[in-house]
Amino acid sequence: GLAGGALVSVGGAPALAGKPGGGGGGAAAGHPLPVPAPVAADGLTLTARRTAVDLGGGRTGSALTYNAGCPGPTIEVQSGSTPTITVTNGLDEPTTVHWHGLVVPTDVDGQPHEAFPAGTRRAYTLPVQQRASLNFYHPHPHLRTAAQVALGLQGALIVRDAEEAALGLPAGRFEVPLVIRDANIDKQGTLTYNGRASGFLGGVPLVNGVLNPYLRVDRAHYRFRVVNAANSRVFRLAFSDGRPMTLVGTDGGLLEHAVDLSEITLGNAERLDLVLDLRGLTAPVQLVDRDSGWTLLDLRPTQADVSQTAPVLGRQLSVVERLVGPAQPSRTFSFDGMTAINGVRYQMGATSFQVQRGQVERWRFVANGNPPHPVHIHGASFQLVGRTGGRGQLFPWEGGWKDTFLLLDKESVDILIRFDLVGRYLIHCHKLEHEDAGMMLDFEVVEGGSSPMVAGTADGAH
Ligand code: C2O
Ligand code: CU
Repeated sequence: GLAGGALVSVGGAPALAGKPGGGGGGAAAGHPLPVPAPVAADGLTLTARRTAVDLGGGRTGSALTYNAGCPGPTIEVQSGSTPTITVTNGLDEPTTVHWHGLVVPTDVDGQPHEAFPAGTRRAYTLPVQQRASLNFYHPHPHLRTAAQVALGLQGALIVRDAEEAALGLPAGRFEVPLVIRDANIDKQGTLTYNGRASGFLGGVPLVNGVLNPYLRVDRAHYRFRVVNAANSRVFRLAFSDGRPMTLVGTDGGLLEHAVDLSEITLGNAERLDLVLDLRGLTAPVQLVDRDSGWTLLDLRPTQADVSQTAPVLGRQLSVVERLVGPAQPSRTFSFDGMTAINGVRYQMGATSFQVQRGQVERWRFVANGNPPHPVHIHGASFQLVGRTGGRGQLFPWEGGWKDTFLLLDKESVDILIRFDLVGRYLIHCHKLEHEDAGMMLDFEVVEGGSSPMVAGTADGAH
């Protein structure tokens, strides 16, 4: 009973949400996918506030936006540079910006204790020393992260470097960031949020901030930079015709070798770097979420030939340093329920343990209820080295550097990790409702020393 049959959902009821995208048929339906031109990081001002937005539902409503965009601008930064980005808080509550995937000093990591009040601004000077990769930025104020993100605050952040540039991957209009999330939209066309500790599942998908997007594609290779920007929803991505997606990179940048996959499970905050050969496309094909049945993006061929050098993907793409570390974990983190890690609920300012800078450690993560938990660690990238129980092996998209992974039920996942910066960092569930409910802890990276879990938290040493 929604006026006009617009693709909206109210209070979480998935009205007409079964087949956004017109079920693949309606060639005339849908909205052009917005692909905002990337902006340089240095000197950028991001203003967070409520503005009018058109989410493609036929009405202009409102959302929380960065620079009037939801998502905000795609930010581009060169590895080796130190840009300054100023964030203006035009909300009516504190906020902070975390540059998810960037390994930067604590004071510019945008952590909860760095939240700044409404009506003020904060400059972040970011020494970007890492490999080329797709990252993203979002608020991180304690207890308010989930709502601020769901109401619109997030955006893509791309790090470039020479190694990646030399590969000649599709660029310019052939490189397309896809910020994928779910949402609830009211009759006015305004984003709404009704999450609780157990999570938030919106009734409709949004890609780059619109419903039912389509992209006109030439006979060419395309590079899709995908981020799961949803609060809680995990996507099982595939193409409607089952065509392979060539995965060339993940959270921490390029893989050593490309891998062809027909389906990829993407947890919250995980990223994918996909190359698609669309030279032979003669009919529309859809990027879908196999879990919800949603069409996420309709690719419509223009049949136009373009001159483009095809990327060579069958060779080694990159040299990926392989961490070498202990065979047994020195710490175990139990993600219990939805409000605690190792039985302890997040308390701002409480340091759970210390880890020595420069030392490779093996950490074990286990899930006890309410999975999956997308586990995220600030302050370093890491490598997955084992998955036992449940599936029993790593997923084929978990080969490179990661900063977030999906912890499934009854599973235990081992990672190798090394911190190169001293400071205070966080481990948390990136199901944002779990994070706000307390599934998060603070730890400290120190020079020359380390400590087990402090009293009250389980010492996982074996
Ligand atoms: Cu994307 Cu601590 O988060
Ligand atoms: Cu969780």
